[in-house]
Amino acid sequence: MKHTLLFCFTLFLIPLTLVACQTSNVKYPYDYEQLSEDERIVIRFSHVVGEDTPKGRAARKFAELVKERSEGFIEVQVFSNGSLYKDSEEMKALQNGDIQMIAPAISKLTFLIPEFAIYDLPYAFRSSDEVHEFADSPAGQKLTSRLQPFNLISLGIWDSGFKQLSNNVRPILHYRNLQELRIRIMPSDILSEQYASVGATPKRIEFNNVFSELEQNNVDGQENTLSNITSKNFHSLQDYLTVSNHGYLGYFVLFNLEFWNSLPADMQLLLFETLQEVQQWEWTIAEQMNANILQQIENCQCIDIHYLSATDIEEWQQAFEPIYNYFRNTYGSYYVNALPRFSD
Ligand code: LMR
Repeated sequence: MKHTLLFCFTLFLIPLTLVACQTSNVKYPYDYEQLSEDERIVIRFSHVVGEDTPKGRAARKFAELVKERSEGFIEVQVFSNGSLYKDSEEMKALQNGDIQMIAPAISKLTFLIPEFAIYDLPYAFRSSDEVHEFADSPAGQKLTSRLQPFNLISLGIWDSGFKQLSNNVRPILHYRNLQELRIRIMPSDILSEQYASVGATPKRIEFNNVFSELEQNNVDGQENTLSNITSKNFHSLQDYLTVSNHGYLGYFVLFNLEFWNSLPADMQLLLFETLQEVQQWEWTIAEQMNANILQQIENCQCIDIHYLSATDIEEWQQAFEPIYNYFRNTYGSYYVNALPRFSD
C-alpha cells in the first residue's frame, strides 16, 4: 500500500517538477490576467436562477465577451443559483458595493419603487416586443431613472418570458378554479392583489425556496416562466400546468451607480455596447428556450397541460380589470395609460 502511494506520488511529482524546472525561466507575455484584482476591474454579478436559463446564459455570455474585448482587464464573475446572495439579500449587497451587478426580476424592485409593478399587471403586454417598447418609452425611461437616488443604474432589460401557472390540486381553465389555492408569488403588491381578487391565497416565497415549499405542501402552486419552472424542477412536484401567459417576468440589468461612475469612459462604452448586444441575443434565446421547453414537456407527458382559449383569456382579462383600477387609484394613471395596449 505504502509503495503504491509512494509510486503514485513520485509519478505525479516528477512531471510536475520537470515542468516547474522547464518553465522557471520563462517570461510570461504580459496580459491583464496577470494583474491582481485591485489592478483590474472586477464586476461581481449575483443572480438566483440556474445557469441554463435565459438570464444564466446571458450572464455567462456577457462575462465571456467582456473578458475577450477588454483582453482580461475587466473580469465579470458570475454567481448563479443564489450561491452568493439570495433574492432578499442581493439588492442591499449591490447598493453597498459588495457586488457590482445584479439582474433582479422587476417585481422584486417594487419594494423600492412601487410603480415598477406596472410590469406585473396581468395581461399588460401582448408580446415581449411590447415590453421592450414600453421600457424604451418616455414613461419607461422615467421609471428606470428613479433608481438613481438608490445608487442604482439600469443598463438594460432581459426577458425571462411570460408566466404560466402550475398546481397540484385541480386543472385551471377558468379563473374561478384558482379559488382557495395557495399560490407562490414574487414579492409584489400587484401580484398579491391579482390572486386575492380571484379568491386565491398569494404567498411570497424566495425563488430558491420554492421547490422545498412545494415539496412540503406549504403551497399548492406557483406562477413562473417555463425556463424557471423546469430548470428548478418545480413541474416534477405539480400535476397541472396552465399555459396562460398571464403576466410578464423580466429583469432590469442593474449596476451600483457609484461603481459605474467610477469607470473610465472607454470601459463604460465597452460594457454598454456589449450589454446592448447581449440583450438582443438574450431576448431571442428567452423566446426560443420557453418554446422548446413547452415542446419537451408536451412530449414527456409528465404534467397535465391545459391551454386557455381566446375566450378564456378575455374572461381572465375582465376578471383582472379591478387590478388596473387598484393600480390607477394607488399610483395614478400615467404609467397605465402609457402601456402599448392602451395607446394603440
Ligand atoms: C422568481 O423569483 O420566480 C424569479 O424572479 C426568479 C428569476 O430571477 O427569474
